[in-house]
Amino acid sequence: MGCGAGATVAVVALVWVVAVTVDVAGVSLFLQPPWRGQCLAPGVIRERGDAAPLVPSRPTLKKLRIAAAGCQACDLWRTGTQTVFGEGKQTSTVMFVGEQPGNQEDLRGKPFVGPAGALLDKALVEAGIDRNEVYVTNVVKHFKWEPRGKRRIHKKPNASEIKACRPWLDAEINVIKPRVIVCLGSTAAQAILGPKFKVSAMRATFVPSPLAPFVTATVHPSSILRAPSHDQRRAEMAKFIADLKKIRKAIDSEPAMAAARRR
Ligand code: URA
Ligand code: SF4
Repeated sequence: MGCGAGATVAVVALVWVVAVTVDVAGVSLFLQPPWRGQCLAPGVIRERGDAAPLVPSRPTLKKLRIAAAGCQACDLWRTGTQTVFGEGKQTSTVMFVGEQPGNQEDLRGKPFVGPAGALLDKALVEAGIDRNEVYVTNVVKHFKWEPRGKRRIHKKPNASEIKACRPWLDAEINVIKPRVIVCLGSTAAQAILGPKFKVSAMRATFVPSPLAPFVTATVHPSSILRAPSHDQRRAEMAKFIADLKKIRKAIDSEPAMAAARRR
């Protein structure tokens, strides 16, 4: 090895040592493995409990997705395989918000692609809501789980994880500006509508919100899958479809209502 090559190796080694030292101190420079998405911006501190510093100043869905891929704002980035960002067109009129990605979503990197997603898709068809007009996302973008044997069992996100991840959801809402937001299950309902909204008693009722003209919640599709008998699952599915039909009616009436308001 010549003298020049030796000097290059020494410089690279020195830079690496500095990077490791900084990373150990909690600041991620460029040590994040490539399969975890893009690196954090220099100077962003890990696990401070707030994703806001990562949100681009003039966001588009594409920019948000790239930035969120490198998020380490709470400890869930360590156990989840990847950030599961929302999916759907920027022009979507309806946004469905779940709790967090499940096992299959975590592995595939897309929301609602497992059994709960299949049930949601089926119910949307039954209710006449066009899947192309729907954006699906979650209040928390990494899968939280605990091992049980060989399986990874879903674990509810806690309040600080929900708070840390909230800037991503707010940014998605700001970019898409949906006409309707539908929370799926109590975690999303609590995060978006507050603790007074009780899903079982108030499902599919619209509440005033600065986030969209129509905001409501219904049950999470996983709860339908968990119903103990076939008959109960069928009954729960029928109620879920009825909720979605009510929501579709609101979507259908919204242009007329908006026009009436302008008059
Ligand atoms: N459950 C959720 O809340 N979100 C998903 O993406 C999948 C299952
Ligand atoms: Fe960031 Fe949300 Fe993942 Fe926490 S769960 S690391 S805040 S994307």
